[in-house]
Amino acid sequence: MKGSNESGNEKRVVLAYSGGLDTSVLVRWLMEEMGLDVIALIVNVGQPGDLEAIREKALKIGAVASELVDARREFAEEYIVPAILANALYQGKYPLATALARPLIAKIQVETAWRYGARKIAHGCTGKGNDQVRFEVAAAAIDPSLEVLAPVREWSMSREDEIEYAKSRGIPVSVTVESPYSVDENLWGRSCECGVLEDPWVEPPEDAFAWTSSPQNAPDNPEYVEIGFERGIPVSLDGERMGIVDLILKLNSIGGLHGVGRIDVIEDRVVGIKSREIYEAPAAVILIEAHRSLESLTLTKDALRGKRPLEDEVARMAYEGMWFSPLNKAIQAFNQVLSERVNGIVRVKLFKGNATVVGRRSPTSLYDYALATYDSADAFDHTAAKGFISLWGLHMKIWAKSEKEKGERSP
Ligand code: ARG
Repeated sequence: MKGSNESGNEKRVVLAYSGGLDTSVLVRWLMEEMGLDVIALIVNVGQPGDLEAIREKALKIGAVASELVDARREFAEEYIVPAILANALYQGKYPLATALARPLIAKIQVETAWRYGARKIAHGCTGKGNDQVRFEVAAAAIDPSLEVLAPVREWSMSREDEIEYAKSRGIPVSVTVESPYSVDENLWGRSCECGVLEDPWVEPPEDAFAWTSSPQNAPDNPEYVEIGFERGIPVSLDGERMGIVDLILKLNSIGGLHGVGRIDVIEDRVVGIKSREIYEAPAAVILIEAHRSLESLTLTKDALRGKRPLEDEVARMAYEGMWFSPLNKAIQAFNQVLSERVNGIVRVKLFKGNATVVGRRSPTSLYDYALATYDSADAFDHTAAKGFISLWGLHMKIWAKSEKEKGERSP
């Protein structure tokens, strides 16, 4: 569906709904305080939980409609795959799980607004985070005419106030023991912040992790996985062809068992705050490591060098909410061209928290045994090196000579 409907219904708002306390209170608040009809939208990007029950919960609270969209495949193919081709790690560490899912959720939110003729969309993000930026910039890049509501940013209700608000209106509040952390999860990873983690000196306690075993409790024997790539895209695991969603799920569980993918960083948020984040992303860590190593085998050194700074650009744009920018589109096209050569199999050893590439092979490999070997099969022309070095270093010789003369000239 293309284009906005500027003559839409001013009373309707499409809310990105998670089922948590903030967005549950938000459903009722938008009705009571703003007189709006709320269409709740739950996008399945691989988060845990009974999403159908969450969809129904929105209706119980008073939403006029509630939709659950399974976007796992689109998430993997259109967001995670480009991130793999770009080896995208924000500030060299964070595989961007949350950051990559936000533009997709925003896109589906905009499409839902078009379908319902709604002129407003809403989210439950606070004013301190990155997610507000991602939702709003991504939505604006698709339909700049929609109005965005972000009441949580302004309503100054504490958690206790929200619970009170919810109880007084019969909104179900989760009775499970409250986690001391703020967690977000999808197919590409899990993030964990707040609580004791806010002290950057404190080692993350084991209860901050949910996907990975502690490396010291991981199996004492290593496990090997063989990942097949076609045009840079992972297509098989241990010789078995599978869809990208299944492949990611499998690697999350195998990698997690071996304690792979724990990341502890201080990261720079878009709004200027440094924050301490714990991530678990076994599949992301394994796949990016494997993909990078296959690139080393199949791309020229110029291509590798030219691609590197663009990888950081992709990671930065994903993080900062610029996923739909023309620059990102252009770099994605660039990566696709180079990826035509990135075919083959990578063997990764999983052991006690590490994912180490121990083998790689490719039908489009640029590795030439006859050139590389030091044994008798050596086909490299050693005599050509002398002339090469004398021209390669000629300008250095000239410079050194001039420096020396200058030294002799000066008093
Ligand atoms: N710091 C990470 C990011 O900006 C994780 C954010 C998690 N979001 C959340 N609402 N808990 O991508």
